[in-house]
Amino acid sequence: MTAWHQLYSMNNQRERRPVTRATLRRIGGFARPHRARLTLFLVLSVVMAGLAVGSPLLAGRVVDAIFNGEPLSVVVTVAALIAGLALAEAGLGLVNRWLSAGLGESLILDLRTAVFDHVQKMPVAFFTRTRTGALVSRLNNDVIGAQRAFTDTLSGVAGNFVTLVLTLIAMIGISWQITLLALLLLPLFMVPARRMGTRIARLRREAADHNAAMGTQMTERFSAPGATLVKLFGRPAHESAEFALRARRVRDIGVRTAMTQSAFVTALTLVSALALALVYGLGGFYALRDQLAPGAVVAMAMLLTRLYAPLTALASARVDVMSAIVSFERVFEVLDLKPLIQERPDAREVPEGPVAVEFDDVRFAYPSADKVSLASLEEVATLDSRGGVEVLHGISFRAEPGQMVALVGSSGAGKSTIAQLLPRLYDVDAGAVRLGGVDVRDLTADSIRDTLGMVTQDGHLFHETIRANLLLARPEATEGEVWDALTRARLAGLVESLPDGLDTVVGERGYRLSGGERQRLTIARLLLARPRVVILDEATAALDSTSEAAVQAALGEALAGRTAVVIAHRLSTVRAADLILVIEDGRVAERGTHAELLAAGGRYEELYRTQFAEPTLSAPEDDPVAAAAPA
Ligand SMILES: Nc1ncnc2c1ncn2[C@@H]1O[C@H](COP(=O)(O)OP(=O)(O)O)[C@@H](O)[C@H]1O
Ligand SMILES: [Mg+2]
Repeated sequence: MTAWHQLYSMNNQRERRPVTRATLRRIGGFARPHRARLTLFLVLSVVMAGLAVGSPLLAGRVVDAIFNGEPLSVVVTVAALIAGLALAEAGLGLVNRWLSAGLGESLILDLRTAVFDHVQKMPVAFFTRTRTGALVSRLNNDVIGAQRAFTDTLSGVAGNFVTLVLTLIAMIGISWQITLLALLLLPLFMVPARRMGTRIARLRREAADHNAAMGTQMTERFSAPGATLVKLFGRPAHESAEFALRARRVRDIGVRTAMTQSAFVTALTLVSALALALVYGLGGFYALRDQLAPGAVVAMAMLLTRLYAPLTALASARVDVMSAIVSFERVFEVLDLKPLIQERPDAREVPEGPVAVEFDDVRFAYPSADKVSLASLEEVATLDSRGGVEVLHGISFRAEPGQMVALVGSSGAGKSTIAQLLPRLYDVDAGAVRLGGVDVRDLTADSIRDTLGMVTQDGHLFHETIRANLLLARPEATEGEVWDALTRARLAGLVESLPDGLDTVVGERGYRLSGGERQRLTIARLLLARPRVVILDEATAALDSTSEAAVQAALGEALAGRTAVVIAHRLSTVRAADLILVIEDGRVAERGTHAELLAAGGRYEELYRTQFAEPTLSAPEDDPVAAAAPA
């Protein structure tokens, strides 16, 4: 089995699904707001199809007038009518295009905003699983594919059907014998036409899948961290080969589609030319025997050339409609994902004043893949439905307003998980997390955001200016407040020295700043937001020792007077905490103050000797975090 055969069969696994009535109804739902325009559009398409039959008949009339030696005025009148028809067709064509463009673009707008809004509501768990490239492709390619159903296919089917019926009626009216013979040639190409249509649709879909996969590969590899990883550990040759394999397949598909289409058009041209010869021959024969007017022969010939185009279009309409519906389904699939975490309709605000933080016998397992994600967005065949193993087994603690609770413990114990439950990035399975005495599930997302501020190990920055990244936390902050936050984060000097100052664009994930600078910027953001509760998840773990001191000082500012949950790897922070929890395997193994825990001589004492024994931090009285914390 060659590599592309593998790709190919993988792509085909998730293809065939019956179109349900519900899907069609839903598509109708998206059309409903535009139904006035849609109706007008369809009516116009039908009128235009009717007009198209008119000019061949009029042309025949002119020929007859010439043969019968009718007065000039008749010829001129009919010629003027033909001109009028042409003008009307052109005018209506423009109006119709305007209508269909408006419809199509509005539909794209509706679908795009719906998908964007919905994806934004998805929980963090969704984004940890989904491949960005695949999601972006949904927003772009599939939305456009769905739009095509509305404009091209819909007008095509309606207009072509009417053209076909009217043309046939006119032809049969002139000579049913010739019509019948001309139609006998049809099956010659209708059968292969259908088959070719199906084949083209399948090729197109495969190309779309490859394009999405290439998009994914590019978005992942061509980000600063991705590119760095490939340079350090990756196999560039392998990456190139994989990309080239898909790109080559897309090329082959492109050539094959073009050839199939042109074979199709050539066959069509040939068949209609043959049919035309038949009309002229047979029509001429009847005309010579005076059984048919010469004008009728001309009209027949002209009508015939207009017969095959709609026939072809209708032959492939089924395939077009099917592929458009597939696009709709791929969009609906995303819209149907229920956000695991939703705000209650009667959600309330975090109570005013100082806020206590409370964990009450919290049990938690990360949600299984099938609850939060889509197989096609992860690019796997089926999703894991096994429930995640429980990570937290009954965590209880309470940080009184203004207190600092420190979490310590070995890596993988569940500290970050505890931190993520507080801003409700995930929901607990049992027990409750409370802010100011209220279960976070009863609070509005906005008020949680306003109350909590979090700094994590990998402080993320958007690819925007420093100002924009800071104002994210509080858009209404003044210039003075921004500089104040920067000063307190020990970052003002650096920003002043940049040529563009606050308007310097930092790379995606802050790649143009050093780790320490990026961290201090996220701390400045926290200071600007002035949250009542601060969560620090190893906020200084990734720093070198020179920037460490500056960041520690900035953190001291951030913590002063606030309720804080701090995941610490530094003795200085831990010593200053009002309460220390030692987390082991998702449980609180020990709790108490530094002195109490040391005296107890348990796990904490062990950690103290191994993890915290850093000679540089033996002078806690110099430590700003310690100094800022309430005694
Ligand atoms: N997004 C996730 N999905 C599934 N399991 C996770 C996820 N994040 C962490 N875990 C698991 O949860 C456990 C606790 O992790 P974490 O809270 O990050 O530990 P800590 O911060 O104490 O090092 C680990 O076993 C880890 O593998
Ligand atoms: Mg962690």
